[in-house]
Amino acid sequence: MVKEQIDALRRELEQHNYNYYVLSQPTISDLEFDMKLKQLEELERQHPEYADPSSPTQRVGNDINTSFTQIRHKYPMLSLANTYSEEEVRDFYERVRKALGEEFELVGELKYDGTSISLTYEHGRLVQAVTRGDGEKGDDVTDNVRTIRSIPLRLHGNYPDSFEIRGEILMPWEVFDALNREREEQEEPLFANPRNAASGTIKLQNPAVVATRKLDAYLYYVLGEDLPADTHLGNLEAARTWGFKTSDAVRLCRTLDDVYDFIRYWDTERKNLPVATDGIVIKVNSLAQQRALGFTAKSPRWAIAYKFQAERALTRLNSVSYQVGRTGAVTPVANLNPVQLSGTVVRRASLHNADIISALDLHIGDMVYVEKGGEIIPKITGVDTDARILVGDRVGFARTCPVCGTPLVRIEGEAAHYCPNENGCPPQIKGKMEHFVSRRAMNIDGLGSETIDLLFRNGLAHNVADLYELRTADLARLERLGDKSARNIMAGIEASKQVPFERVVFALGIRFVGETTAKKLAYAFKSMEALSHATEAELTAVDEIGGRIAQSVTAWFADEANRRTVERLAAQGLQMCLTADQLQAHSDRLKGLTVVISGKFARHSRDEYKTLIERHGGKNAGSVSAKTSLILAGENMGPEKLKKAEKLGIKLMDEDEFLDLIGEE
Ligand code: IVH
Repeated sequence: MVKEQIDALRRELEQHNYNYYVLSQPTISDLEFDMKLKQLEELERQHPEYADPSSPTQRVGNDINTSFTQIRHKYPMLSLANTYSEEEVRDFYERVRKALGEEFELVGELKYDGTSISLTYEHGRLVQAVTRGDGEKGDDVTDNVRTIRSIPLRLHGNYPDSFEIRGEILMPWEVFDALNREREEQEEPLFANPRNAASGTIKLQNPAVVATRKLDAYLYYVLGEDLPADTHLGNLEAARTWGFKTSDAVRLCRTLDDVYDFIRYWDTERKNLPVATDGIVIKVNSLAQQRALGFTAKSPRWAIAYKFQAERALTRLNSVSYQVGRTGAVTPVANLNPVQLSGTVVRRASLHNADIISALDLHIGDMVYVEKGGEIIPKITGVDTDARILVGDRVGFARTCPVCGTPLVRIEGEAAHYCPNENGCPPQIKGKMEHFVSRRAMNIDGLGSETIDLLFRNGLAHNVADLYELRTADLARLERLGDKSARNIMAGIEASKQVPFERVVFALGIRFVGETTAKKLAYAFKSMEALSHATEAELTAVDEIGGRIAQSVTAWFADEANRRTVERLAAQGLQMCLTADQLQAHSDRLKGLTVVISGKFARHSRDEYKTLIERHGGKNAGSVSAKTSLILAGENMGPEKLKKAEKLGIKLMDEDEFLDLIGEE
């Protein structure tokens, strides 16, 4: 009865996923979908005996950190030979014609610019997803791939019992832009293009984070022993009926002119697509002819890629300026004569770092090539040296901070230059205050970058601790700030004194200490006092804190000015340690232990147990291995896991024993 209900909900949700992510034609509202999903989650929680990795509830990704196992590809993942002109395409066509000596058809497809993936389905279920790797073997990223909504976990229709399907995982432009905006706010390095963002995401250790990144996938190659059709196109069409997302931009080409038409059409039309493409792929349609043509060592003889020209423009480099970020990182920016490029006017381009500038051998006044090539910020890709008549100075890199004049430093092994005048350089001071008040840190309402600039210019705040000494009258006197906003800001500042300790650690803006790291540090050291005295060795002993972070933390607290700030913040009443409640909920009892959860439990849900394991300093793992310290075993534990545990002599614990161990009721 319950089983039927669960099955019906799963089928219904799969259909809605398909309608939304593959067909882009949803038939119910997001709210209705979420409610049905919640209902299914609840049923699965009550009946863990019906757990199923193919269930739509598994799309959110579990929070277990996985490391990837290498898998050998059954069929190697080759690449395609690239061509850049219509002549080279004709050469390919002629080679195929001569080699086959009979009529043939070609299929034109888009060349999607993401990261390639090979999916294995057995009995209609996704069982494995492997990256390209070196072509021979790749990483098993199945848990991450399960979170991609357009990839079916279960198939419908008449699919072969066992087959592989390959395609491209992509980050849509819209998602990419939003992700980079967020990273910019956090001063995290930006992704250069959606391809890097997609490949970086699919290799993340945490499937739950992958799930938030909204990846998409197009499938373009079916492989197997008993495929339904003897043409490439036939198999793609069949795959579509099984639930896969295949591209609509596929065309059967009977002549070379058909191929050229296809190329020319998509060269401009691709700009309207939601995902990045970098060319066209042309494939021989008949599988028998593909077999006859075979492969070279690197690529098939039956297919070729045609790469689109990246759009570029030529313009003059007028000057180079430098921007200073919150952490003191100095980024060079090229100021250009305005030029039209892919529909927008470009005035500035990123120069990234000193190495790139010197590789380009840039001079002021040079005519430079600017490209957008799928990247958000246009970049300079070359210099037209023939156009060098009256050039100016060779562009070096600033030696001193453009704002405060302090000599810049370059940290060994890093490309970036920094202004070390952390507590005296205006953009750094203002940037630190902006970070301090931001939503994820102290969350002080009403204090945006403009107000901070006003406070700074009027000498009212030069340090985050100054904020707590402001008076309503000081604020109300500032231009554009009335009585009411002044009172709001004061209330926000007062309320921030209750913000929990881990967010205070994050708010300090220590380089490399993001939200997650701040939390780790807060729970490992429990008070600002202890954290400020921690040695590098004590810091690196904390799980996932490496040498780079440890050095940054000790250097920060070694600075007299920073210590003084912390003292003032403490005196002003900010949370400088974990509360009794927080302390009680946490312990070190599982420190150094890796725990695998298996089976059905009565007292807490699996997710609750995962949280408990983390809170008590342990690590969650998905599968039993020699590294497993203990297994939290419920009823009906999987027989495979049990066998492996016995073989490795790993201790099993039932939930009562486990709760006893961590001192929870
Ligand atoms: S077919 C044996 N079709 O391009 C060749 N590849 O350089 C199988 N790609 O690794 C690949 N769009 O990541 C094929 N429509 C498409 C493609 C495509 C993008 C990528 C893929 C592959 C690379 C080859």
